[in-house]
Amino acid sequence: MTHVLETERLGKKFAGVPALSDVDLVLHAGEIHALVGHNGAGKSTLVKILTGVHPSGSYTGTVRVDGAPVAFASPAAARDQGVAYVPQEIQVVEQLSVAENLFVGQTGLETAPRVSFRELRRRAGELLGRLEIPLDPRAPVAALSATQRQLVMIARALTTDPRVLILDEPTASLAGTETERLFAVLDRLRAAGTTMVFITHRIPEVMRMCDRATVLRDGRKVAEIARADFSERGIVAAMVGREVDHLYPTRSSRHGEQETLRLDHVSVPHPTRPRDVLRDVSFTARRGEIVGIAGVVGAGRTELLSAIYGALPHTGTIAVEGEPQRLKSPADARRAGISMLTEDRKGTGLLFNFALRENITAGNLSGLSRGGWVDRSGEQQAALGFIRSLRIKAPSPSSDVAHLSGGNQQKILLARVLMNAPKIMLLDEPTKGVDVETRQEIYRLILDLADRGVTLLVVSSEIAELVGLCDRCLVLADGAIVDEFRRGEGSEARVIEATTTAVTS
Ligand SMILES: Nc1ncnc2c1ncn2[C@@H]1O[C@H](COP(=O)(O)OP(=O)(O)OP(=O)(O)O)[C@@H](O)[C@H]1O
Ligand SMILES: [Mg+2]
Repeated sequence: MTHVLETERLGKKFAGVPALSDVDLVLHAGEIHALVGHNGAGKSTLVKILTGVHPSGSYTGTVRVDGAPVAFASPAAARDQGVAYVPQEIQVVEQLSVAENLFVGQTGLETAPRVSFRELRRRAGELLGRLEIPLDPRAPVAALSATQRQLVMIARALTTDPRVLILDEPTASLAGTETERLFAVLDRLRAAGTTMVFITHRIPEVMRMCDRATVLRDGRKVAEIARADFSERGIVAAMVGREVDHLYPTRSSRHGEQETLRLDHVSVPHPTRPRDVLRDVSFTARRGEIVGIAGVVGAGRTELLSAIYGALPHTGTIAVEGEPQRLKSPADARRAGISMLTEDRKGTGLLFNFALRENITAGNLSGLSRGGWVDRSGEQQAALGFIRSLRIKAPSPSSDVAHLSGGNQQKILLARVLMNAPKIMLLDEPTKGVDVETRQEIYRLILDLADRGVTLLVVSSEIAELVGLCDRCLVLADGAIVDEFRRGEGSEARVIEATTTAVTS
């Protein structure tokens, strides 16, 4: 029986170190095939081979399309044979509009004597409309959020009507409702016969959407599971290599009573429109308290953290330990004992072309220097400590971060913030793209920090995570707080109800 796409004994090494060994992947026509595994398991490497990013000649083994061996020399070659790809890292051209971004780099358009912008916009509008993706073709991409950029990338992959669509963690920056919207698009594509590979760390998404799953561990295929045999426990056990029980650690201690953070009537104006993106937000957080912030993308969650971090101008008052602060820049915030883990690791987070070690210690060097000189061995020690505790998979502390897998890059950003040991920690999607085992580690670290008296504000698109982890949860909708619940009171249904009634009312 021939398959739409299959691989035989696929292998790939980086500088002599195997990232993928002997992988046989089989895609049946019209299925959504989950590809799961821990950070650094080889998922992205595998799909980069299928899509010509790692060209033929740079790997061993065979890729077949409809039973015939193929040798893609580039992503364009793969696309020409009907294999399209949405990479893990967002790649858009900031200076161009949505419409231009959708068709950028497409054969035919570049060699055409003239490109009609009106025609581009019309085609973009038609595609976005058909997929029910709410984006304006004329909007400049520079003004879009991470989620909207993700949608641009997905729409771009669909401009060529591919037979096989490969999505590398498409839902990592999406919240519940956006994920549902994306799933509706994928359902329609499946019904129309498109075959898909879907990479995710969220096992409930595999259960909900996928027809079969291939599990990778340390570059090898360890399981292939049919939908009839799907169970969350089973999939996680295959990924980890053992049974995992309690995802969320139980909190034995209670947070303190002393107020560390207080917001009074904080609003953030929209950069261009008259409407505020954050409206009259007031709340307090206490020493050692973990406060979750729920809401759909666009509800103002990142804006709230950014305002506290001094990265967005705000009105109203923000006080730390009773003292009102002038927070005009992140440097002001850091002086006040506030640090932040950003959601956008590529845009504002990682220093590419720098070593892993330097990425962890960036911004923390004052604690590591003596007489104006950086203590390199101290830097090395600190970096090694985090590599161990967060299970960062990297050859050495001097490896370039650009070569690490997505989840491992996330861990480095987290390590940097953890190293600061601030009074108040703002975490925007701390487990984005992070595998199950490391998630548990991150939850433990968060509880540990709270026990040491750090106040944590955690934004997450996964409501289950907030409910499981936080002492208290604020629900934002349309820039305002619409609901609040304590540990043990919240649920996914309650958050969805609070946000939808707020938006429609
Ligand atoms: N360009 C590269 N140079 C050197 N090593 C690389 C390169 N790309 C990937 N690797 C290594 O190959 C291994 C597999 O990485 P890959 O990106 O495929 O993991 P992944 O399963 O996609 O992980 P994640 O869930 O974190 O995205 C990792 O150890 C990674 O560091
Ligand atoms: Mg990856």
